[in-house]
Amino acid sequence: MRVLGEVLAANYHSFTFRSSERVPSDAVVATPLGGGAFLVGRVGGVDASAPDRAVYEVEVLRRGEPGPGGGIEFFAPREPAVPGAEVYEPPREVAAALFGFGADPKRSLRVGTALGGAVEVLLRPESLWRHVFVCGTTGSGKSHFAGVLVEELARLGIPAMIVDPLAEHLGLVASLGGAVVRPGRDYEVPLSSLTPEEAAQAVAALEGTHGYDLFLFSFTALRREVEEGHRSSFGLGDVLRRMERDGIHALRLDGYDVRVAMARVEHSLKRHRFLGEAERGPDWVGALNSGLPLAVDCSSLDALQVQLLAGATLRELQRLRLAGRIPPLAVFLDEAHLLAPSDRETPCKQVVREYVRMGRHWGVGVVLVSQNPLDVDRRVLAQCNTRAVFALEPDQLEALQGVKSDATPAMLRGLPRFPRGTCLLTGSYETVRHAVVVSVREFLGRRALRGAAATARATFPAKGAAAVGSPFRQAF
Ligand SMILES: Nc1ncnc2c1ncn2[C@@H]1O[C@H](COP(=O)(O)OP(=O)(O)OP(=O)(O)O)[C@@H](O)[C@H]1O
Ligand SMILES: [Mg+2]
Repeated sequence: MRVLGEVLAANYHSFTFRSSERVPSDAVVATPLGGGAFLVGRVGGVDASAPDRAVYEVEVLRRGEPGPGGGIEFFAPREPAVPGAEVYEPPREVAAALFGFGADPKRSLRVGTALGGAVEVLLRPESLWRHVFVCGTTGSGKSHFAGVLVEELARLGIPAMIVDPLAEHLGLVASLGGAVVRPGRDYEVPLSSLTPEEAAQAVAALEGTHGYDLFLFSFTALRREVEEGHRSSFGLGDVLRRMERDGIHALRLDGYDVRVAMARVEHSLKRHRFLGEAERGPDWVGALNSGLPLAVDCSSLDALQVQLLAGATLRELQRLRLAGRIPPLAVFLDEAHLLAPSDRETPCKQVVREYVRMGRHWGVGVVLVSQNPLDVDRRVLAQCNTRAVFALEPDQLEALQGVKSDATPAMLRGLPRFPRGTCLLTGSYETVRHAVVVSVREFLGRRALRGAAATARATFPAKGAAAVGSPFRQAF
């Protein structure tokens, strides 16, 4: 515990202290109150009115007290610092506890360091169930940060499903022993897994033709049969047969018009190669119960196709999760503005909204990555409790309600010029309690998994039955 100086003046929210050392802004400092209690705060900057520039201003964050079992408990401050009392650099465990970081690296997500390398940033895995939003300018390190989370989840035996529009994470997933699946080749979703709105978008080019109306008529009828339990799924062949019948008998169309309509629908839907007759691979239950990541390579798909595929896949995972067939997991949506944009509806926006609203109860975390928060649906953003903000212009920050939380002016001023791999991490009481600047660690590759077998066994002891007995499972 290094003494830095002593308190000069104090009120309930802040105090000043003089120090002969140069104390970096944003440093965490503490001062005793008596009875083992102390105030802990953050250096905001130098008091410009002091002629020797050796007086520092501190914003008080919490009052700390020794808790039962040797830990520290934090409360709202209720008295000012004591003038003349020592100001010291608290032990790193205290600083880590202040931010809400985990204490045990074996059970935490090790994303990097803070306070000039003094504190290891250990996120509690449960904080993921309250979702993470990652933003920042191009090349600032967002996808890398997501990749670090994937590595850490693999080490803890928590599965991750990555929707990867730019095929950026495939090498990482493969290096961790996870699976990479390619839609259309080893992965099809039945046409019946689309909602009527999604189906309409899939044939949007036909709008205004008999093909469009007849397709939706028949699609909706078949969907009803699935919902009523008369059939389990249907594909393009089923829809075409149904269109022929409905066109002639129900809509009383001319036979030629019906055939043209069928040909157009067939042509439109065959473009989406991942739409099949029935569910075909991947084996979600097997893959996700392995505790390893799985990436869906969407690089050959256009934006609409990524949306359709992501929507159908998220609904399937939701079904399996609620049936208890797959363990708690994290879903990564890179280029999230494609899936849940702020300015229009997309096929999968509804299911993404449902994930972020309900994920905490289901044990499903969503990590959304996008350059500009203004491009992402506000309702989705509002549910992301943890935000990792890489280099970003201040006006773009405005979209993130509460993101500034208690970030100091120095942090916000520095934000546009953050170097690659540095982010401002903010959250809530359950995740990251105070804003903190984090240097994201480098990839470890397979080294990330060292000791993973033991961790995974402790986390998910029974394979197949997955996480029974694990703390992640017990929470749900
Ligand atoms: N913390 C880090 N340590 C080491 N390398 C990093 C770190 N962060 C980013 N990089 C490297 O910097 C490059 C750009 O990072 P990244 O791809 O994550 O940017 P991005 O923010 O996702 O960009 P885009 O908006 O274009 O998707 C990559 O080559 C990545 O490996
Ligand atoms: Mg990226």
